[in-house]
Amino acid sequence: MNIISIGYLGFETAKLDQWREYGPEVMGFQIAKSPQSDPDSLYFKMDDRRHRIAFHPGTIERVSYIGWETRNRLDFIDAVKQLDKHEVAYTVGDAALCETRGVKELVRFRDPVGYQHELFYAQKWTPRSFTPGRPHGGFKCDERGVGHIVLMTPEFTPELEHFLIEVMGMQWYGWGAGKGRTEFLRAKLNDQTSHDIAYGLAPGRMGVQHVGVFVNSVRDVGETYDIVLERELDLLMTLGQHSQDPHMSFYHFNPSGFAFECINELEPWHGDPFELNPEKMSTWGHKMVGSIIGPSVGKPEDVYPEIYGKK
Ligand SMILES: [Fe+2]
Repeated sequence: MNIISIGYLGFETAKLDQWREYGPEVMGFQIAKSPQSDPDSLYFKMDDRRHRIAFHPGTIERVSYIGWETRNRLDFIDAVKQLDKHEVAYTVGDAALCETRGVKELVRFRDPVGYQHELFYAQKWTPRSFTPGRPHGGFKCDERGVGHIVLMTPEFTPELEHFLIEVMGMQWYGWGAGKGRTEFLRAKLNDQTSHDIAYGLAPGRMGVQHVGVFVNSVRDVGETYDIVLERELDLLMTLGQHSQDPHMSFYHFNPSGFAFECINELEPWHGDPFELNPEKMSTWGHKMVGSIIGPSVGKPEDVYPEIYGKK
């Protein structure tokens, strides 16, 4: 599938009021106009797209959908054929849903773990429409999209790897250098970052662990770090630089209880001519000062009762 990146993300939350304040004031997101069809949800802009991240009112802190952007209509048609070929069940987004997402067309399907994915092309945008929620140098979206997401999976099955690599056409990146077992992958057309998505093994648990967003300058990382410290928000990892990417970042917990990794690329990504096997996760910093897994990760039956059944 000719996928560029994660074009948008949707979450469910019981903490919309906190997000309404935290999004602009801490992260620098712009509050977008909510679509007429979905006035009660909170939409954030990170660039000139109509929105990049949506929070929908609900009772569980969880990711609702991951929106993968195909390059154009023809690649979208090919991607849907790929779903047909692999007998992946999907639903076609109707006109109302396409309008809500601000896209031309979309389809929805679940991965073998149960996470909801969407494929789309052509999201609405308006040049020079982004105004950050606070003084901020902006986000490196464009063809990078929102950034990356790390999900927990109760088990690694051959079906999951088949789905990601054979059906979705992801490029393999590696296991990373963490103590756990986390599989990193990136979309077929992404040649600028190491991963768009990762699945971390967490027996008996499921949920979003963190979302990485790319900011335009080191100053944006530093100023966000200052705000997080001033507000005494929970940190997961201090400032540092990963071995596997030329990134400087830190991790803190947002109102939904998953972490945001605020990232600046110190130099362009080096590509992966061979599979990296770093001795350690970070070259400096990234001191773990909080739980690696936040409250957004829980028992599958609690996080996705409609799939795993509330017991
Ligand atoms: Fe990350």
